[in-house]
Amino acid sequence: MPYPGRGHINPMMNLCKLLTSQKPDILITFVVTEEWLGFIGSEVTPDNIRLATIPNVIPSELVRAADMDGFIDAIMTKMEAPFERLMDRLEPPPCLIVADTFLPWAVRAGNRRSIPAASFWPMPASLFSVFQHFDLLAQNGHYPVELLERGNERVDYIPGVSSTRLADLPHFMNRISPRILHHIHEDFSWVPKAQSLLFPSIYELESQVIDVLRSKFSLPIYTVGPLIPYGKSNDHPSAGIDYIRWLDSQPCSSVLYISMGSFLSFSGAQMDEIAVGLRMSGVRFIWVARGETDRLKDACGDMGLVVPWCEQLRVLCHSSVGGFLTHCGWNSVREAVFAGVPFLTFPLLMDQGMVSNMIVEDWKVGWRLRKVEDRMDHLVTREEIAGLAQKFMDLEDDEGREMRRRAKELKQICHGAIDEGGSSQTNISAFLRDISQSYA
Ligand SMILES: *[C@@H]1O[C@H](CO)[C@@H](O)[C@H](O)[C@H]1NC(C)=O
Repeated sequence: MPYPGRGHINPMMNLCKLLTSQKPDILITFVVTEEWLGFIGSEVTPDNIRLATIPNVIPSELVRAADMDGFIDAIMTKMEAPFERLMDRLEPPPCLIVADTFLPWAVRAGNRRSIPAASFWPMPASLFSVFQHFDLLAQNGHYPVELLERGNERVDYIPGVSSTRLADLPHFMNRISPRILHHIHEDFSWVPKAQSLLFPSIYELESQVIDVLRSKFSLPIYTVGPLIPYGKSNDHPSAGIDYIRWLDSQPCSSVLYISMGSFLSFSGAQMDEIAVGLRMSGVRFIWVARGETDRLKDACGDMGLVVPWCEQLRVLCHSSVGGFLTHCGWNSVREAVFAGVPFLTFPLLMDQGMVSNMIVEDWKVGWRLRKVEDRMDHLVTREEIAGLAQKFMDLEDDEGREMRRRAKELKQICHGAIDEGGSSQTNISAFLRDISQSYA
C-alpha cells in the first residue's frame, strides 16, 4: 500500500519488483486509488504483481497542491475503510502488509487481523530520526522559531544526524501546519506496532543514523536501496531516441542534466532566471521541463536540449553527462549516486534541504546553488547560476575534480551494496527469509 504520490509509488513498486524477482513464489497486490491506476496501469509488471484499486476517496492529484492540509486529512481518514474491504475480498488472503509510513492505518488494519506489517519509510533515514526526535527541537528552543533570523543556527543534537542548519529541516521549509504535524505524530506512533521497518536507502550512505535507529527500535530495520529502476537501464537501443542520440554526440562528462521536480514549487521567474543563466554559462545541458518546454527552449539558447520527459536513470548513466542540477528529490538523488554524477543542489521543500545537506556536507559530492538562508521567494540570479554552473562543469577545476572523485567512490559503494553479499542484497534476503519464516 503506497502513499498516493509519484515519489512514494515508484520506490515501492521497485521494491515489489525486487522481491518478486528474488522470490518468484510470492504474490503481491499493489493497491492504488482508481485515479492512480489511470497513471500507472499501463506500466508492465511481472505476473506476480497485480494491481488492485480502492475508490477515489481522496482529492485528485490536480488539486492536491492547492489544499495540502485537506489532501492529507483525507489520506488519514478516508482510505482505511475501503482498504479493509479490499483486504476482505483478496484471494488468497494477504499474510503481510507493506505500507508507507505515512499511512499508519494500514498497520492498524494489520494489527486488528493479526497480519504483520512492514512500514516503508520513503525518505532519508536522517529525516526519520528528525521526526522521531521532534521534541528535542522544542527542548532546545528551536520550535517554534522565527526562521528569518535564526535559519542559519545549527541543529546538532538529533541522534545520528550530522549538524544541519535549522532552515534545512523539513518543518520549516514546508511550513508544516499544526494539523499536519499532528498527523505526522500519529504516523510515528504506529511505527513500533509494525513488525519491521524498510528504508529505500543504502546502509553505507546513512550508516550513522541507521545504527542509532537500530539501537532504539526493537523491530528489525532493513536497508533495501537504492530501489531505482536499474534493471532496465540499458535494455533499449538508442536508435530513435533523439535525446540519447544527442548525448551520444557530446564530449565525455560535458553535459549538465537538469530536473527540478514537478515545478509546482518554482516560480516562473526563477525558471526563466535559470534558463538565462545557463545560456550565459555556455555549458551544455539537457533539461527535463515537462509542460514548460516551449517557453524555456526560447530562453536558454542552443547549447542544450529541453525535453518534456526522459528516462532519467539512462540519461544520468550516459557518459556525456557530468553533473545534475536538482531540487534534491530523494529518488532522483539515489539514481544520480548510482550513476556517479555530482550535484548542483536547489532544495526548496520537504526533505530536500536535508538531502542537499547530505550531498554537500556529508558525502561532499555537490555544491549548493540555492543558499540555505534564502527565503522561499528569493530569486537566485542569472549571474550566480552562470558562474557556478561554469565552475561546476569545468573538468580542470581542482575542487570539482575532488568532488567528481568522491561521486565515483559513492557509485562504487552503491553498486557494492546491491552486489552479491552487499548490504542491500543481504538485507533483502534477510527480509524475505524473515517474512517467510513467520508463516512456515
Ligand atoms: C543489513 O545490512 C547491514 C549492513 O551491511 C548489516 O549490518 C545487517 O546485519 C543487515 N541486516 C540483516 C538483517 O541482514
